[in-house]
Amino acid sequence: CLWVRNLRQNRRLPGPFAWPVVGNAMQLGSLPHLTFSRLAKKYGNVFQLRLGSSEVVVLNGDAIIRQALIRYGAEFAGRPNFTSFQLVSGGKSMVFGSYNTVWKKHRRIALSSIRTFSTANSQTKKRFEAHVMEEALELIQTFIHQTRKHGYFEPTHELTVAAANVICALCFGKRYCHEDMEFKALLGKVNRFGETVSAGSLVDTMPWLQAFPNPIRRIYKDFKDLNREFFEFVKDKIIQHRQTFNPEVTRDMSDAIISVIEHGTRVEDGLTKEHVEGTVNDLLGAGQDTISASLHWILLLLIKYPHIQVKLQRLIDAEVGRDRLPTFEDKSKLAYLEAFIFETMRFTSFVPVTIPHCTTCDVMIDGLHIPKDTVVFINQWSVNHDESKWKNPEVFDPSRFLDDKGAIDRDLTNSVMIFSIGKRRCIGDQIAKLQVFLFTAILLHQCTFEANPADKLTLDCTYSLTLRPLHFTICVKPREDCKDKVS
Ligand code: HEM
Repeated sequence: CLWVRNLRQNRRLPGPFAWPVVGNAMQLGSLPHLTFSRLAKKYGNVFQLRLGSSEVVVLNGDAIIRQALIRYGAEFAGRPNFTSFQLVSGGKSMVFGSYNTVWKKHRRIALSSIRTFSTANSQTKKRFEAHVMEEALELIQTFIHQTRKHGYFEPTHELTVAAANVICALCFGKRYCHEDMEFKALLGKVNRFGETVSAGSLVDTMPWLQAFPNPIRRIYKDFKDLNREFFEFVKDKIIQHRQTFNPEVTRDMSDAIISVIEHGTRVEDGLTKEHVEGTVNDLLGAGQDTISASLHWILLLLIKYPHIQVKLQRLIDAEVGRDRLPTFEDKSKLAYLEAFIFETMRFTSFVPVTIPHCTTCDVMIDGLHIPKDTVVFINQWSVNHDESKWKNPEVFDPSRFLDDKGAIDRDLTNSVMIFSIGKRRCIGDQIAKLQVFLFTAILLHQCTFEANPADKLTLDCTYSLTLRPLHFTICVKPREDCKDKVS
């Protein structure tokens, strides 16, 4: 077997020297994806690190990552057996669960419930569109209110609520107002989730750190608290759904999941009632932080590059007109807007490294042997900044996605890696792209966004499962002919 052969040959994967006890933990820096890319230049696209007690293999670059996640899809589809992963969704998470036959059924049910309430047919798509439109218009009202009250303001809370409300509407058929205190408190902590489960987090690889007062102990405590509170919120909603469940009417995704798992005609072996709460909790968590991070970056790039903002507004005005709001159907006419969104995803790579993977058996990649149960980090940032693939990857240029006729180059957009690929690919990618498109189109159609001259407008960010821009403030003005409508 490969493992024995490697042992006999005494081969070790390339990588930096690992110190006793901590390994390479102190070398990750504040932006580990950049450290990984730097190390890949020195040691190659497949290299090894040790974080505390865990051996970790880091995969970089377009070719190696595609080879691993597509050609050896099943071999790289596991999740590490981390303590923190077991705490998510009451231990019944699909996102953080092991790769096995029950997981496959679980993923199929989650994916089909998303489709049923979004892209399944023209009717469901219209309903989904209405949810996003309502949220975009509410967001604009709140932005304008904040501008009147404070002048420049930080848009974090508003974007978090808007993103959470779309997925809440799909899951529970309910949205919350921006001032709802209970919802505000719940969401206030959600962005702490990614600190624990992101690649490079030391919570699981150096668990002994929790014995002493230090930032890791606080991060882990917050993680446990927020998982408990969030799961209680979801359980409460599922109890209400069970009490009012009518097999004739599927109101939302919670009903759809209850229907398949608890009332289905097919026996879903291994899936219990608790998987209902687990699935809804997963979808709510996964569909919220990522969307709000993408809207953050979009706003920052619009104020940093005002000429791009004006170009987008002119395009939308020309193609949509001023008498109605943009819709999903306008997407094909707004190639430059789509290009702007893809460039935001590529350039910022705001999910820089996927959720950690783990090998399900011994596997050979690039001539190197990786044993079963090795933790694997997939560096998406390195794909989006791969110099062999992208011209001047460090430059923000939406037009790189347009061909000579101004149409979207699908080969290039497919090369952007932000939703991962293979067996663990994001199942919300379609609704995420639609949502981000419509939010951005409506915001630009209705408002102008201005930077605060006192802000430096750097692209500096904090690292977690998602990258977040450091502090920036905006002022939002209704466009001339929208003033009456939004006042
Ligand atoms: C997983 C990205 C929105 C549901 C993931 C992963 C990434 C990702 C990178 C990890 C894949 C891996 O480990 O290899 C994004 C981005 C989004 C987004 C960039 C928005 C722009 C959503 C939405 C939903 C969703 C809206 C659902 C409502 C999921 C689920 C998984 C996942 C369920 C777990 C898949 C699995 O483990 O099999 N996403 N996501 N995501 N995402 Fe998303």
